Amino acid sequence: MMKSPVRKVVFPVGGFLPVTKAVPKEMLPVVDKPLIQYAVEEARAAGIEEFIFVTSAGKVALEDHFDRHHQLEDALVSRGKEAELRALQATMPEEGRFSYTRQQQPLGLGHAVWCARNLVGDEPFAVILADDLIMADTPCLKQMIDVYERHGGNVIATMAVPQEQTARYGVIDAGGVEANPVPVRALVEKPAPDQAPSNLAVIGRYILQPEVFTHLDRKETGAGGEIQLTDAMAKLIADQPFHGLKFEGVRFDCGDKLGFLEANVAFALARDDLGAAFAERLGGYTNPR
Ligand code: G1P
Repeated sequence: MMKSPVRKVVFPVGGFLPVTKAVPKEMLPVVDKPLIQYAVEEARAAGIEEFIFVTSAGKVALEDHFDRHHQLEDALVSRGKEAELRALQATMPEEGRFSYTRQQQPLGLGHAVWCARNLVGDEPFAVILADDLIMADTPCLKQMIDVYERHGGNVIATMAVPQEQTARYGVIDAGGVEANPVPVRALVEKPAPDQAPSNLAVIGRYILQPEVFTHLDRKETGAGGEIQLTDAMAKLIADQPFHGLKFEGVRFDCGDKLGFLEANVAFALARDDLGAAFAERLGGYTNPR
């Protein structure tokens, strides 16, 4: 079977809570880059060509971040800061490859993805939740594209989480199979620990077939009264291949304060230019109060 290439990615950006009032959480920096930029770089490294942002708050901050800033570029040139200029230019998309649309009501992740339906059209696409930051030698989405090229259909990222945390995630029913990638038999959004079919959680990376929009079109609500992407995906399983990849890499939940702080420490320690000096400072660190 010929598989259509995955050319597009959708980034649901920004919730509706106070912290994201003007700046979406995806614009928060880990070390010196906003989360969304890590996500864009991961998608690019996986061969994605078109980038679709579904924003609610902070559209302006996002568009500005991925736009040229001529004054800044001129200032860098006049101060001879060539390396900084190149780094800045490397984040710029090719014109016409970035699109923005608005989710107008907080109806859930499924609804946010549905808002991108016309921009995606009738082809497979990826979704990245930028607050799931993944440090990996091979970018997580690239690992998933490799699975997609072998199996087709739909591919989601998964990892084992402590059983008591299943209610925070979409959870996979793998029928007890230990394979990797694992065939997905069913999906449940945020099950209580004693109801969860396994402890394999869905992490925010998806390769989906466009038929998912048919299910999202029905606007059925699920866990938390929201339109859940998990529920729409679950309906694809009967008709299409569906696999969960236990990816290689470390995932940081940047939607959570501790996870966000940990990501900053881990990404700083991993940097060639900062790691050694930062480790030295951290080593002697105590609560200054
Ligand atoms: C969303 C999805 C959930 C998934 C999680 C991964 O939940 O609904 O299935 O496991 O992302 O981070 P949220 O974090 O928006 O509650």
